Amino acid sequence: MRDYQIAPSILSADFARLGEEVDSVLAAGADIVHFDVMDNHYVPNLTIGPMVCQALRDYGVAAPIDVHLMVSPVDALIGSFVEAGASYITFHPDASTHVDRSLQLIRDAGCKSGLVFNPATPLDVLRYVIDKVDMILLMSVNPGFGGQKFIPATLDKLREARGLIDNSGLPIRLEVDGGVNTANIAVIAAAGADTFVAGSAIFNQPDYRQVIADMRAELES
Ligand code: DX5
Ligand code: ZN
Repeated sequence: MRDYQIAPSILSADFARLGEEVDSVLAAGADIVHFDVMDNHYVPNLTIGPMVCQALRDYGVAAPIDVHLMVSPVDALIGSFVEAGASYITFHPDASTHVDRSLQLIRDAGCKSGLVFNPATPLDVLRYVIDKVDMILLMSVNPGFGGQKFIPATLDKLREARGLIDNSGLPIRLEVDGGVNTANIAVIAAAGADTFVAGSAIFNQPDYRQVIADMRAELES
């Protein structure tokens, strides 16, 4: 069995109590914190930036923070997020003019790097930069909002990405983001994902421990 990780997306958390919410999901068994950064330019929504990431670190969050940049341009924010305590920084290749440079900037700063692919964006660019990524993130909804429905065509794309990773022999994580829930997580894992972002499926439930346990049970079934 793969080393599965559950990554709650704090986009669906109660922002007025963000520190407590993050503590709660981690205590409930989550592995990493998924941190959605939206700029009202690359995506039609506006969320949080490096100050909030720093605030979570200052509050005492020790778990890896997986920063998903839905911003354009990308490079100017890399340094601020590294300083603010990001563990992973992922960005959309179509949001950066110089993808190779952006990946290098992330790694040179000591962070793990990743590329994010929208539902209709091909994986072609990986052919040239797969040795520079620690994570591949496949969007299974169009980015911008939580609570959308999983797009089934992502399953084929996950199989394709899994093949690329296995052929490379590199320890790259394969993350999926959008519409993941207890009912579909097993099928998504079978297609090759090992890291599961879930926002509304976790934060809209009263008992985070129960929903994360249910997800793990599905992954083990
Ligand atoms: C969407 C974000 C996701 C989102 C997932 O653009 O990148 O991380 O919060 O939310 P759910 O799990 O509700 O689809
Ligand atoms: Zn995300």
